[in-house]
Amino acid sequence: MLKFLQRSLRRGFDLAERGLDRVFGPALNPLAQLGAMGFFLFWIVAVSGVYLFAVFDTGVERAYASVEWYSTSGHRWHAGVMRSFHRYASDLMIVVMALHMLREFSLDRYRGARFFSWITGIPVIWFLYISGITGYWLVWDQLAQYVATTSTELLDWLPIFGEPIARNFLAPSSLSSRFFTLLVFLHIAVPLVLLFVLWIHIQRITRPKVNPPRLLAGMTLLALFVVSLMKPALSQGPANLAKVPSPVGLDWFFLPLYPLADAAPGALWGLLAAATVMLAAMPWLPPLRRMQPATVFLDHCNGCGRCVEDCPYEALQLVPRSDDLPYALEVAVNTSKCVSCGICTGSCPSSTPFRTTDALHTGIDLPDLSFAEMRERVHAIAATLTQTPRVLIIGCWHGAASGQQEGVLQLPCIAAAPPSLIDYALSRGLADGVAIAGCSESACYNRLGLEWTRQRIAGERDPYLRARVPRERLATIWASPLEQARFNDELASFKARLAALPRTAPPAARRHLRVIEETTP
Ligand code: HEM
Ligand code: SF4
Ligand code: SF4
Repeated sequence: MLKFLQRSLRRGFDLAERGLDRVFGPALNPLAQLGAMGFFLFWIVAVSGVYLFAVFDTGVERAYASVEWYSTSGHRWHAGVMRSFHRYASDLMIVVMALHMLREFSLDRYRGARFFSWITGIPVIWFLYISGITGYWLVWDQLAQYVATTSTELLDWLPIFGEPIARNFLAPSSLSSRFFTLLVFLHIAVPLVLLFVLWIHIQRITRPKVNPPRLLAGMTLLALFVVSLMKPALSQGPANLAKVPSPVGLDWFFLPLYPLADAAPGALWGLLAAATVMLAAMPWLPPLRRMQPATVFLDHCNGCGRCVEDCPYEALQLVPRSDDLPYALEVAVNTSKCVSCGICTGSCPSSTPFRTTDALHTGIDLPDLSFAEMRERVHAIAATLTQTPRVLIIGCWHGAASGQQEGVLQLPCIAAAPPSLIDYALSRGLADGVAIAGCSESACYNRLGLEWTRQRIAGERDPYLRARVPRERLATIWASPLEQARFNDELASFKARLAALPRTAPPAARRHLRVIEETTP
């Protein structure tokens, strides 16, 4: 059931993302920036909130009038717009959060060592809702009265408070300004807690994307501004505790469950508890697949720190040397954070396939798919390439190459292959061309693998692809598993380009070159 849901969502996101890739380009695709958009919206809500608070009266008698002041003619253009920004950015944050959560789920990025961001996302949902709901109380209009009464009745259903707190809203005389000020305080304190939890949320992620690209941020601000002018956020008439509150003009982003809270508070608590427990259990539900974490081979590690730079999940750290080798530092793996993407193997200078020692070791390796095995597989695949031009595909499990049966070196991430492996395959005549096939551009499963691969090929990042490698014999294809047709088209046109090039010498004729290459670091 969960698998079916995941697959359907993956298909839906993939279709939407490829469509948005065409409109915005992969770098600006909003679906690839959901976490960053969440942070950006938080800051919009925070700044507009501080602005509004400057003129807000925290006393219950004056609260409604002070909010109405925002919308009066002279202030509509600043305070009125700010109020709309505050409301609509909060609504959008709910949408962005829901999409972000579903997308991470659809990409299966919530289990194993990735559980941390998922689990810390759960309190984020709660705190975001509490922040929004407490915000609605402050306006002290009819909606606020309904929300306050229903929320307190809901809380009273739980046996936590000695005195029912809903009593505060029974009659005009029962609501004190002090209690109202407490509600105001909650609306400031809870978002601060939310920010703190968001900070924890990204602690296990290297270089988390917390700022969207400027153009996307600008477009979001413009869209909010247009909506603020077209449909300004307004109050719904002053609260009147002498009257029974009714659910007037509900905000369906923050308050969709309020009708249920009204009708069956027990059922709502049950639903919320079940949803929370279900979300919390998800990372540990079967099938549990976890490759073994990366392992360091100190004899081949000089403590250069490249792998630490490249690891997308903060799993590596440089520590003082523990052996006799003449280096100050060595790398250490935090196995609980390692997602076994292999990017560190691809970044280690010791990962050079040209070496001919009996056992091909590197500084840091995946026990389930060692670098030596990678090289062996390249040889095995090369032996099966019979049709010319012979193309070796170095592909990622999470991209379109996962659907190819032949000629593919399948890796957990495209960046697990060091650039020297491309050099090796071509200079040894093992293939006429190498196709690097990763995830689609805006959805790298291992966050940074695609970017690092690109930079290595372009010579902008160590270890870079050497200048001697003929670039016309190399192609990169970024496509998701659902884009088989595009993948096949790009592969076919690469083969056509290769066919027009002079044939490369087969491996046997190149053997004499080995002596020279083996001495190359
Ligand atoms: C508005 C609320 C949220 C914000 C602002 C937010 C923000 C972020 C950011 C900035 C990242 C890092 C993205 C990157 O650079 O790759 C991230 C990752 C993640 N988030 Fe959230 N998040 C929110 C809510 C949630 C929720 C509710 C969940 C799920 C319950 C969730 C699950 C995850 C997961 C699983 C990752 C890690 C993905 C990976 O392993 O690559 N987030 N989030
Ligand atoms: S395999 Fe390497 S790069 Fe990937 S998470 Fe583990 S330590 Fe980091
Ligand atoms: S990249 Fe290789 S040599 Fe450098 S610190 Fe990491 S394991 Fe050691």
